[in-house]
Amino acid sequence: MDWDTRALDVLAAGEPTPLIELPLPAHGIKLLLKDESKQPTGSLRHRHARALFRRAVLDGSIAEGVTVVEATGGNAAVAQAWFARRLGLPYIVVMPGERSPARALAVEELGGECRFVTPPLAIYDAAREIDGHFLDQLGRAVPHDLAEELFGQVRPNWVVTGASTGVTSAALGQWIRDHGEGCRVAVADPENSAYFPGWTLDVPDYGTGMPSRIEGIGRPRVEPGFRPDLVDLVVPVPDAAGVAAARHLREVTGLPVGASSGTALWAALELVERMRARGETGTVVSLIGDAAARHLTTCHNDDWTTAKGLDVARHTATLRQRTAS
Ligand SMILES: Cc1ncc(COP(=O)(O)O)c(C=O)c1O
Repeated sequence: MDWDTRALDVLAAGEPTPLIELPLPAHGIKLLLKDESKQPTGSLRHRHARALFRRAVLDGSIAEGVTVVEATGGNAAVAQAWFARRLGLPYIVVMPGERSPARALAVEELGGECRFVTPPLAIYDAAREIDGHFLDQLGRAVPHDLAEELFGQVRPNWVVTGASTGVTSAALGQWIRDHGEGCRVAVADPENSAYFPGWTLDVPDYGTGMPSRIEGIGRPRVEPGFRPDLVDLVVPVPDAAGVAAARHLREVTGLPVGASSGTALWAALELVERMRARGETGTVVSLIGDAAARHLTTCHNDDWTTAKGLDVARHTATLRQRTAS
C-alpha cells in the first residue's frame, strides 16, 4: 500500500458522536445535544483537522515527510497534531502570545512543536514563512462530515452551531440544500463577533475588529468559510448568557463544556421558545463543541466571570424557565 492510500485510511470517518437529550418542559419539542467532546481529541475541531488533511493528501500538498503547519491558539492544534502523529508527519503550530507551557503541553505530548508569536495577528505570516504545508483552517475552509453523520442519526427541524471558520454552518447548510432536507441552520454569535452584524446587514466582509470573549467561536471579521446564503438565522447571544448556559449544560451532563457550547444552547433555547409560541413541535439539535478541564478555570469560575464583567446570574431564571430544571 502506498503512503497516500495509507494516509487516506487514517483519515477515514471516525465513530459517530452521541446525541444527548436535554430535558425541557413538556411542549412537544425535543432538544438534542450533539456531543463533539467525544471526538478522540475532545472537540469538533477533530472534523476540521481530518477534512483539511484529507484535502491536502488528495491534492498532493501533503506527502510523506512534509512538515504540516498551522496558526491557531485553540483546539485545532491538538486535533491536527493528533492526525500528524498518526500520519508520521512533523507538525508545527504558531500560537499567539507569550509562551504558555499549559497551552503547549497538549500539542507537545502528541509530538508537535509550538512556536509563540506576538503580536497575535503575526501568527499567520509567521506560519507562512515556515517550510512546509500551511493547512490554513481559516483561509481554506474545507467542509467536514458532521452533517452526513448527524442526518444519519436524526431528522431535526433546526441545527444550531457557533461560527469561527464558518465551515460547520456552511457544511450543514450545503448538505441540507443538496439533500433537500427540511431543516434549517442557525448560527449562535457572541458579542464582538462580525457574523451577526455582517449577516443582518448583508455585508460579506463586515469587521468589528474586536476579539470574542467566547473561546472557539466569534470572529473580528467575517471569514471566507462563512456562507451567509446557507444560513437561515444568526442569533446574537450575550456573553453572560452563553456562560450561564454552559454552566447549565455542565449541571445536566457533568461535562466541563466551553462557553461556545453554552452560546449555541442559549440560541437553541430561543428557537425552542419561538417554536413553542407558534405552536410548532419538532426537534432542535445544538452542538457541544468541546469539554475540557481548562474551562473550569474560565467560564465555570466566578473570579473569571467577575474579572470579565459578566453578570451570569441574571440569565439563570430564564434558563430555569426554559429548561426542565
Ligand atoms: C459550539 C461550536 N460551534 C462551532 C464551532 C466551530 O465553528 P466553525 O466550523 O465555524 O469553525 C465551535 C468550535 O470549534 C464550537 O465550539
